[in-house]
This record gives sequence, C-alpha cells and structure tokens, in this order.
Amino acid sequence: MESKEKVILTGDRPTGRLHIGHYVGSLRRRVELQNSGEYDEIFIMIADAQALTDNFDNPEKVRQNIIEVALDYLSVGINPERTHIFVQSAVPELTELSFYYMNLVTVQRLQRNPTVKTELEMRNFEGGTPTGFFCYPISQAADITLFKATTVPVGEDQKPMLELTNEIVRRFNHIYGDTLVEPQILLPDNAACMRLPGTDGKAKMSKSLGNCIYLSDSAKELKKKVNSMFTDPQHLTIESPGHLEGNTVFTYLDAFCTDDDFAQFLPEYKNLDELKAHYTRGGLGDGTCKKFLLNVLNSRFEPIRERRAQWEQRIPEVYEILRKGTEAARERGQRTLDEVRRAMQINYFEDKELIAEQAKRFATKQ
Ligand code: TRP
Repeated sequence: MESKEKVILTGDRPTGRLHIGHYVGSLRRRVELQNSGEYDEIFIMIADAQALTDNFDNPEKVRQNIIEVALDYLSVGINPERTHIFVQSAVPELTELSFYYMNLVTVQRLQRNPTVKTELEMRNFEGGTPTGFFCYPISQAADITLFKATTVPVGEDQKPMLELTNEIVRRFNHIYGDTLVEPQILLPDNAACMRLPGTDGKAKMSKSLGNCIYLSDSAKELKKKVNSMFTDPQHLTIESPGHLEGNTVFTYLDAFCTDDDFAQFLPEYKNLDELKAHYTRGGLGDGTCKKFLLNVLNSRFEPIRERRAQWEQRIPEVYEILRKGTEAARERGQRTLDEVRRAMQINYFEDKELIAEQAKRFATKQ
C-alpha cells in the first residue's frame, strides 16, 4: 500500500518500572524521534494484554505497572501533545485484527521464534504453554500494522517479531490486495545500548535478577548501585592493567557518556578512548571511573527524576492522558480495520454489490 505518512508505533509490557536499559535501548530514541518533527503520528502502547499472556494469574501486577510505565514515559520526555500514549487492552480493534492474522501464520512458524523460545525456557509454564502466550507475536504484528506504522524503535530482542510482522503483511497483501504497510525496525546504534548488562555484569538487566537501575531510582539508590557495580575482577590494585571486556562500568560509559561529560566532570581526559587507554595501561582506579559514571548518570537522570516527581502529583491527569491517547488510537485503528474488512470481503452489510448480487441470484431462482 502506498503510504506517504511516517508513523511510529512502539511499546512496552507493564510488568515493572522501566530501567536504564530501556532508556538507552529505546526510550531515548523515541524522544529524539518525537522531537525531530519528522513523523506524522506517533503511538506508544502500554502492552497490558501482552503482559497478561504470561501474567494472567496476576492482573494486579499489570494494573499497578500501567501507571508506573506511563510515569516513566512522561518523565523521559514523551510529550502527550505530540505522542499518543495508549493502553493495548482498551483497543479491541487489535484483538480482531490478530484473529484474522492467525490464519496467515502456521504453528510451526511460531515455534521457530527465537525470542519466544527463550522466554518459554525462562518461564517454564507448568502444565504447558498458554495459547495466548504462544500467539503473542501475532498480536504484536497487529499492534504494529493497525497503525500502519512505518518505523518501530525497539531493542534487538524484538527483531523476530518484526520479521514475522513483515511476513504477515506480505501474505495479507498478496491474498487480499494491497492494504497493509511493512514496517522497519529501528535498532539502537551502538552495541552497549543494544543490550545493556545488569549492574552485576550479567548479560541481561532484569527485575528477577535484581541487577537493574530504574529510571525512578533516587540519587541515593543510584549511587549505591553504581558503587557496587561489577568491573574487572583481575584489577586488584590501581597500578595493575585493567580489562574493558565485560567491565560493566565501561559498557555503561559506552552507552551514556559523551565528550562533553569529560569536559564537565573529568577534564584530565578528552574522551572515552583516552580513559580506556589509561585503564588498560594501568594506573587508573575503578573508583575514579565509577565516580565519573555516577556524574554522567546523574546529569542524565536528575531532570527525569524531577519531572517524574511532578507527574506523580498529577495522577488523575496521567490517566486522562491515557484515555485520550487510547481514543486516538482507536480512531486510527478503526480506519485500518475498515480497510482490512473490505479487503477480506467480510464487510457484508456495507457491501451494496453483494446484497444486490444475492438478491438477483435468489430472485432468478423462481
Ligand atoms: N514485546 C514488547 C516488549 O516486550 C512490547 C510490545 C508489544 C511491542 N507490542 C509491541 C513493541 C509492538 C513494539 C511494537 O517490550
């Protein structure tokens, strides 16, 4: 389908507060894209229905975290005047579209999805895989295509979802005629941002591992977490040469710091390359690096913390933002769904030709 519009759709599951891995992996980018003025419409979805596919027995968790995620969005600078923030379950058009897409995807295709595979291993559902969970990649294709999104800024783990989405779009358009738009994934541009490790150096920052720095952490919590970060276990004295590989402090610096931060907080070095060189050579202590990282993180997150504190005093207004965003999402969604139903020829009551044709067919029978 020819579409000149540039549309962003992305979202998060409301299963916890968002952490700084979400920030470098996607949130920071979303705010930049929003402020670039290059997009005709931007939708950010709180994926509660998807969260329920593996938290169906704990709806309270999802319910509590919708507001947390909304506050995180607003505090990083998502502006509800420019971006529609909406709640997935309140857009029934998504469910309808998912149901039609289920015909276009085989069970075998879903079984090959590497993200779902990993998640299944992690979740270890007793008594088997819930069908809703198994099918969530299809529902994610509906999330994206209902808005005819052209751009989906997400982390690398979402790649298989985007691939499936594009397959569904091609299949749909081939069978029913050009209707849907193929989206493009927009990944973070550096490896550290792609998958920020936990403060303990483990590959994934995750709530269950207790190795997260949350956007909503206080300055005190942040300091404690940075000071206890994993570095190089072989770097026992300041003089000994340090290693960068797997050194979380340096990975975080890769993700966060700029040359300006050196000018401001550590003018002895021009840039991160110089700092790294000194560390590898020996003679640079972890304490100095951690202190610098803390300064960098505070300068990024202090304004975010302040904005969050303000929004926390305006909770009813935040729900109102979600309600309005959801209305806008439904309106946009209904337009696509009308087209989908027409393309699939299931718009029986609006199809004057069909009614006339059937009338004629039965009339000539007599
Ligand atoms: N699966 C995403 C996550 O776990 C959330 C999500 C649901 C999403 N629907 C989406 C992301 C559509 C991008 C586009 O974070």
